[in-house]
Amino acid sequence: MSAAAPLRIGIAGLGRLGRRHAETLAFRTRHCRLVAACSPVASELAWARDKLGITALHEDLDRFVRDAKLDAVVLVTPTSLHAAQAITALEAGKHVFVEKPLALDAAACEQIEAVAARHPQLVAMVGFVRRFDPSYVQAHAHLASGALGRPFLVRSQTCDQLDPSGFFVRFAPTSGGLFMDCSVHDIDLARWMLGNPRATRAFASGTIAVHEDLAPIGDIDNGLGIVEFEGGARAVFYASRTFAHGHEPSTEVIGTAGKLTVGVGAARDHVVVSDAHGVRQQSVGDFFERFSQAFEREMQAFVDACRGERQAPLTLHDATEATRIAQALTRSLQSGSPVTLV
Ligand SMILES: NC(=O)c1ccc[n+]([C@@H]2O[C@H](COP(=O)([O-])OP(=O)(O)OC[C@H]3O[C@@H](n4cnc5c(N)ncnc54)[C@H](O)[C@@H]3O)[C@@H](O)[C@H]2O)c1
Repeated sequence: MSAAAPLRIGIAGLGRLGRRHAETLAFRTRHCRLVAACSPVASELAWARDKLGITALHEDLDRFVRDAKLDAVVLVTPTSLHAAQAITALEAGKHVFVEKPLALDAAACEQIEAVAARHPQLVAMVGFVRRFDPSYVQAHAHLASGALGRPFLVRSQTCDQLDPSGFFVRFAPTSGGLFMDCSVHDIDLARWMLGNPRATRAFASGTIAVHEDLAPIGDIDNGLGIVEFEGGARAVFYASRTFAHGHEPSTEVIGTAGKLTVGVGAARDHVVVSDAHGVRQQSVGDFFERFSQAFEREMQAFVDACRGERQAPLTLHDATEATRIAQALTRSLQSGSPVTLV
């Protein structure tokens, strides 16, 4: 591709996150043009046409990825579709950005890796957005400098505000469950912060605190996981769908010479109001509010990688390992026993 030519991108999936990615690509990402959209839902395509001026609108993903006007596709579709769609896109010769998690099981992730290996000229990147958050980037650099000695323990949580709209319960069946959908972010962070050790054993437990509708599909709304890694490092994960006050992701990394924490509490800003009702702060409402800057950096990193300007800072293999660990935690939750990873 010539350095002057903008990358021509299409987006599939225009739901909760897809619309945000579409706006980011259309209005806030350099060296690309969002020229096509795909969704089975007519009103979503109408939104892309009316709000973003996109005229190449596809109901069918196979036709979408074969659109000759596209260099790259961004998949923001239900997780259960990621594996087949990512493979179809790569085989159609398109660079692919696929939202997390890469797929619901490690074997499917390995299939995607194998297809990507047959197309080394194409970029395939997974949306672990926290790797683009300035605070997490700074934390990783500090650990990598050795200033905190050898990191050996991670405690990380992803806690969403309670969603009374019913969206989350409708979304849950295709999500892979709480560990695959939520903790997979923390799992990826733990591997990154600990220097990518291999996981050897996982144990999980959980409960339904609010969303009884999850019981028939075997999911939970609050879960705890412990993962052991080769070499002695350990990680503890907590995920919740039911926080009353706001969205509260945080990560603590403990090393032999100190520790660091990213994100304490859910405060939106530095404003503290003290009045007759007490002392309080506004809280962050959702993941998009917390990571909006990271989502923009992530899309720019994908575009830059497709244009050959810099390498994507994470690999498909990272995403495979995150899925493998989330899958082991899910199996442990279901069986009640620790799961050994081979
Ligand atoms: N990185 C993050 O922090 C983060 C946050 C939220 C969601 N996600 C991921 O993004 C993905 C989408 O989540 P969401 O919350 O936007 O879900 P959603 O249900 O709101 O949106 C899914 C979209 O996919 C579309 N779709 C369904 N089948 C399709 C098909 N065959 N072809 C094309 N489009 C199809 C739907 O019409 C809808 O627009 C999931 O994999 C989820 O894990 C990531």
